Amino acid sequence: MIPLSLAQIAQVTGGQLSGPPEALVTGEVVIDSRRAGPGGLFAALPGERSDGHDFATAAVAVGAVVVLAARPVPAPSVLVPDVPAALAALAAFVADALPALRIAGITGSSGKTSTKDLTAQLAERLGPTVAPAGSYNNELGHPLTVLRADAATQNLILELSARGAGHIAYLCRIAPPRYGAVLNVGHAHEGEFGGLDQVARAKGELVEALPADGAAILNADDPRVLAMASRTAARIVTFSTDPDLPHSPHLSHPPSGAPHQSQASHGPYLTIRAADIRLDDLGRASFTLLAPEGSAPVTLRLHGAHNVPNALAAAALARELGLGLADIADGLSDAVARSRWRMEVSRRADGVTVINDAYNANPESVRAALEALGHLARGGRGFAVLGHMAELGDTSPTRHAEAGEFAARVLGPALAGLIAVGPEAAPLLDGARRVPSWRGETLGVPDGPAALAVLADRLKPGDVVLVKASRAVRLEGVAADLLLEADR
Ligand SMILES: Nc1ncnc2c1ncn2[C@@H]1O[C@H](COP(=O)(O)OP(=O)(O)OP(=O)(O)O)[C@@H](O)[C@H]1O
Ligand SMILES: [Mg+2]
Repeated sequence: MIPLSLAQIAQVTGGQLSGPPEALVTGEVVIDSRRAGPGGLFAALPGERSDGHDFATAAVAVGAVVVLAARPVPAPSVLVPDVPAALAALAAFVADALPALRIAGITGSSGKTSTKDLTAQLAERLGPTVAPAGSYNNELGHPLTVLRADAATQNLILELSARGAGHIAYLCRIAPPRYGAVLNVGHAHEGEFGGLDQVARAKGELVEALPADGAAILNADDPRVLAMASRTAARIVTFSTDPDLPHSPHLSHPPSGAPHQSQASHGPYLTIRAADIRLDDLGRASFTLLAPEGSAPVTLRLHGAHNVPNALAAAALARELGLGLADIADGLSDAVARSRWRMEVSRRADGVTVINDAYNANPESVRAALEALGHLARGGRGFAVLGHMAELGDTSPTRHAEAGEFAARVLGPALAGLIAVGPEAAPLLDGARRVPSWRGETLGVPDGPAALAVLADRLKPGDVVLVKASRAVRLEGVAADLLLEADR
């Protein structure tokens, strides 16, 4: 964080200071007292099991200069009514105090973290870059990430998530992005939003927040995302994996309902494209990256064709930040998966391949992962261990059945078995059974250990297993145990 005195912190947050006004916070802002360090600020929050306020003295003992607190603590403190809101105010102050900082935001229903990690690895080639660790993208993680920026930071790459209207607009007020990418509009959190049009309204808040001298990076292959062109004052850059899309499509009829009048002046959209996409045996994509200034070859280390649009969005953002096409292509080819449990592909000593995609699941990401499974298992046997896709509301049984049907129809003989973990995932099996030509096995199991048991009886060298479910199901343990199994 930029150095701030306790007096400034009290002023910015509207809080009540008890402590030396001139003392400076020069270190990290943390919400876990065990991570507090010299010169830092400890924000006390009520946790599930314990209350941060009880650790105020512990944080100060290891060097924290001040505690941001909602009730009096026996330590130097700034007392505020709402600690997360105070963190947001501090973050907004810091972002505003760094006018040279280049801020890029990424949103979408699936692929935000993957794209954020790719974009950060590209931006690092240009200079010091701050990006959240993992999926730190909500009301708390967002300000904490922004607070890590200081005068040396050149690029700030943010993942913006929404569970309802106004969330992304709120995050954009804290750190106003100049560049914003929207990846896709899908069924994630459908239960909370009420439908895809509401999801699109919420995701589009990112492009509404962009300034006229910024750029909105839009997925031309997703009509709901492309339609967001009418909601921004920013220049529009699109990306596409569609070989049939004209190179610079001129939309003579821009999407209607535009709150902004600026669309006509944008002219044809510049498009960043991937041509000649090929997947290797492990589902890693190679393609030719095309931009108006030229082309360059890319070979991703990430698994799954769905990482191609993510890479294109990252390329478009990095291009806006000033990286040249050759460096973008090199950077994409060097980039690794920084966040865990997203398409981690491992091969056991006995020749069984495990795809650990257990970080999260929604209808689109399950389809993407199943397509990758189908590719890895083609000509052989694939097993899909799928748990509940959460937060789908009333549509949950239908969405699970659709995913099961997709698995059986698209993978066909490459899907030897579909294993549904837990009662909420059971409609997956009904969906798969709706495909009369599919001959695979359907198995319902109560939990992860039971899934491991049925797999142990079936797996043979050469088989491929996909493990995926929503975060709450925590199936990553199943993937880890599967990998250990071969050593036993
Ligand atoms: N472009 C994409 N289209 C569909 N599925 C994708 C895409 N990118 C990633 N995925 C799938 O979504 C899962 C989650 O990816 P990632 O963590 O990057 O998304 P996210 O949008 O950050 O998710 P969250 O909302 O949980 O933060 C991955 O495991 C992968 O299976
Ligand atoms: Mg994420």
